[in-house]
Amino acid sequence: NKGKYEHYMQKEIHEQPESLTTTMRGRLIRGGSCKAKTVLLGGLKDHLKTIRRSRRIVFIGCGTSYNAALAARPILEELSGIPVTMEIASDLLDRQGPIYREDTTVFVSQSGETADTLNALEYALENGALCVGITNTVGSAIARHTHCGVHINAGAEIGVASTKAYTSQIVVMAMLALAIGGDTISSQARRDAIIDGLFELPSKVREVLKLDQEMKDLAQLLIAEQSLLVFGRGYNYATALEGALKVKEVALMHSEGILAGEMKHGPLALVDENLPIVVIATRDACFSKQQSVIQQLNARKGRLIVMCSKGDAASVTVGGSCRVIEVPQVEDCLQPVINIVPLQLLAYHLTVLRGYNVDQPRNLAKSVTTE
Ligand code: UD1
Ligand code: BG6
Repeated sequence: NKGKYEHYMQKEIHEQPESLTTTMRGRLIRGGSCKAKTVLLGGLKDHLKTIRRSRRIVFIGCGTSYNAALAARPILEELSGIPVTMEIASDLLDRQGPIYREDTTVFVSQSGETADTLNALEYALENGALCVGITNTVGSAIARHTHCGVHINAGAEIGVASTKAYTSQIVVMAMLALAIGGDTISSQARRDAIIDGLFELPSKVREVLKLDQEMKDLAQLLIAEQSLLVFGRGYNYATALEGALKVKEVALMHSEGILAGEMKHGPLALVDENLPIVVIATRDACFSKQQSVIQQLNARKGRLIVMCSKGDAASVTVGGSCRVIEVPQVEDCLQPVINIVPLQLLAYHLTVLRGYNVDQPRNLAKSVTTE
């Protein structure tokens, strides 16, 4: 049921304040005056000790689910101190990459049925790793075959392009990072800030959704383009990949997410006054590096669309002209949840304006159950 919406993708984008609320329900504990704020993931509580002892955490997934894990990687590394590596399921299998008994492997899948991810799970089980699932589908193959896990509880997702599952996956993995990282005195302030940030996330997402018309106007401007680049780094490297994936899969426009730190190692050659480029430059530890990326793109007359934190328009437009998307700021590790929303809206509107099928893009399936 699409309710008041024209398409499932549109409905699922706009329902994110609610889906995120359901994802967190019963799992965040605010704590009384003297009690610490904590996270409770029922599906993991008996396995946390084993996870904390593991030598490595390996995230495994495909498509949007892989991108969600990439978004959560920095905070998991920070809070757990355990090395976190990333695997695209098919590539892990192609390489028969090493997986050890001392590893915790985390399988991220909205459907819980993706063939490559499921095959990678069988492979990790054979190799004796602890296997954790992060799925949206209770009773799915991945939920059943993993040793333990967390349901993201985002509600059924119908649109082939994943939107609300992405943001809920990131939130679950941020909660996973809080659950694995011990609550040492030194990390308490950071943990509290993240938990407060999680509580206010639904209202911040509601706020960023107000950019709908602005994104429609931007889509109108980009309707006839051949290509769109998206630059991001740090917490928002994943946002660049996921934003580009949305544009590619539904609007059928070539789009590439680029790690801004790699700009000079190739992508800069593409920059001219015609190619539109989205640069994600919200406030975090990488902000000044992104400011210098913007300057260098400006020096090559790049056609920039800069996403920045509210109030930062002047700081990101120095030395050039560009379009600005201002988004509400949240705790840095949660910012990918906010930043993807305008790009989801952009991909949605581009698709509708270009006259393509939003909910069932050409050649794609919601759940890829064959290799
Ligand atoms: C569970 C209940 C929820 C109830 C809550 C109250 C289910 C599905 N969930 O939620 O209805 O309100 O307790 O305490 O009955 N699992 C995997 N692999 C996965 C995902 C999950 O093995 O990929 C396992 C978990 O380890 C856990 C079970 O499935 O044993 C349920 O997981 P989850 O729904 O996340 O647990 P709770 O949030 O505690
Ligand atoms: C398909 C979908 O390619 O599978 C994508 O079209 C999705 O939206 C990918 O990200 C992985 O699916 P899942 O269910 O394992 O998260």
